[in-house]
Amino acid sequence: MNKNDNHKLWGGRFEAGLEKWVEEFGASISFDQKMAEFDLKGSIAHVTMLGETGIITKDEADQIKAGLEELLAEYKAGQITFDVSNEDIHMNMESLLTAKIGPVAGKLHTARSRNDQVATDMHLYLKAKLDEVIGKLAHLRETLVDLAQEHVYTIMPGYTHLQHAQPISFGHHLMAYYNMFTRDSERFVFNVKHTDLSPLGAAALAGTTFPIDRNMTADLMGFAKPYSNSLDAVSDRDFILEFLANSSMLMMHMSRMCEEIINWCSNEFQFIILSDTFSTGSSIMPQKKNPDMAELIRGKSGRVYGNLIGLLTVMKSLPLAYNKDLQEDKEGMFDTVETITVAIDILAGMLKTMTVNKEHMAESTEKDFSNATELADYLASKGLPFRQAHEIVGKLVLECTKAGCYLQDVPLERYQTISDLIEADIYDTLASHTAVKRRHSLGGTGFDQVQWQIDQAKQCLAQQKD
Ligand code: ARG
Repeated sequence: MNKNDNHKLWGGRFEAGLEKWVEEFGASISFDQKMAEFDLKGSIAHVTMLGETGIITKDEADQIKAGLEELLAEYKAGQITFDVSNEDIHMNMESLLTAKIGPVAGKLHTARSRNDQVATDMHLYLKAKLDEVIGKLAHLRETLVDLAQEHVYTIMPGYTHLQHAQPISFGHHLMAYYNMFTRDSERFVFNVKHTDLSPLGAAALAGTTFPIDRNMTADLMGFAKPYSNSLDAVSDRDFILEFLANSSMLMMHMSRMCEEIINWCSNEFQFIILSDTFSTGSSIMPQKKNPDMAELIRGKSGRVYGNLIGLLTVMKSLPLAYNKDLQEDKEGMFDTVETITVAIDILAGMLKTMTVNKEHMAESTEKDFSNATELADYLASKGLPFRQAHEIVGKLVLECTKAGCYLQDVPLERYQTISDLIEADIYDTLASHTAVKRRHSLGGTGFDQVQWQIDQAKQCLAQQKD
C-alpha cells in the first residue's frame, strides 16, 4: 500500500493511500467530465449564496467566483486537463480552483457535499438535454406532418399480420407515427417537472447547520424549486429513470418506423428509395444499397433498453441515502442522450430525403383483395346482414384465387348471380381511391380525416413554438 500523500481532498483521516488500480476503479472523471460546465455553474450559484448569506465574506465569495468563472472560460477553450487521482469532476474542479486562487478555495465546499453536488450537476445536465430532445422531436414531428401533407392522396396497402388488409392513405400511415412521437414529446415534457428541482443544500444527507438559502441557489441555477426532503434530494434518480424509460419508448417507436422503412425499400415492396446520403453499399456485392441507418436505429434500441434495465437494477434495494453505487447512474444516461439525439435527426433526415414511389404503392392495392371489405360493406349497406355478406364475399375471394383474378375483374353478370343487390356502381366502390375516400369515420383514413389530423398537428406544433 502507498503511504498517503495527503493530496486527496478527503485525505485527513487516512494513513495510507489507494493503489493506482484501486483508485482508477473508484474514479468517475473519465465520464463525469461531461458535466464540467454544470458543475462550475452549480458552484458559482453556491458560492454566491454563501456570500449573500454571510456564511463566508463577500470578498472571499468574489475571489472564489472569479476563479470559477476563469475555470469555466478555460474549460470552454479546451485548456483544462483532468487528473484521475482527483477521482471525479467535483474534486478535479476544486483542486484546479485551489491551484488558481489558493487556500480560500477550501471555503467553497462549506455547507455542501459531493452528494448534493453530483445530484445538482445531473439535474442541470439532464434539464438542458431534455430541452434539446424536445426540440429535435418537434423537428421530426414537423417533418412527418409535411410529408403527410404531401401524401394525403397517396394510396398504399394498409396491413394487419403483414398481409394486405385495406387500402389507406400514406399520409394517414405517417400521421400514426406523428402521434407516437407527440406522446413521446409529452412524456419528456413531464420529465422536466421532476428534473427541474434543486438538490443543492441537502448536503451529505441531512441538510446543514449553516444558514443557507436553498431557494436562492435554486433560483440562481434556474430550477423551479428545491427538493423538500434532503434524503430524497441526494438519493433520487427517478428523473433519470424516467428519461431512460421515455427514451426506450421513443426508440421502440423509431425502431418500428425503421423496420417499415427497411421493408419499404426492399425489392419485395419497392415503396420508397432512400437517398444515397443515408444508405451504404456492400464490400462484396456491387449492386447493394443498404438501409444501414434505419437498421442501426432499430439496433440501438437494444442499448437504450439496456441502459434503463441497468439503472433500475442499480437502484433496486439501494438503502437511503447516498451509496457509491449511484456513480453508475451516469454512463447509461450520457449514452442514451447521445444515442437518441442523433437517432431522431437521422430518422428525420431519411424521411426528408427519401423518394416515395407513389404509383407502385397505389398499384400494389390493385392486385390484391384489400377491397373485399368494400364489397361486404356494399351488400350490408343495402340491407344484407354483415355476417352473410362476409360469407358471400369470402366464397367469391376463394373462387377468384382459383381463377387467378381479383374482385374488380369479376363480370357484372356473375356479381348479379351472387346477389341482385349488386349493380354497376360496384366497380367504383371496389376502387382503392374510393375505399380510402369513403372512410370518413373520425380518425379514419378518409382524405378529409387525414387532412383534419394534419391541421390539428400543425396547430399543435405552432403552439409549441410560441
Ligand atoms: N463521483 C461521485 C458520484 O458520481 C460523486 C459523489 C461522491 N460522494 C461520495 N460520498 N463518495 O456519485
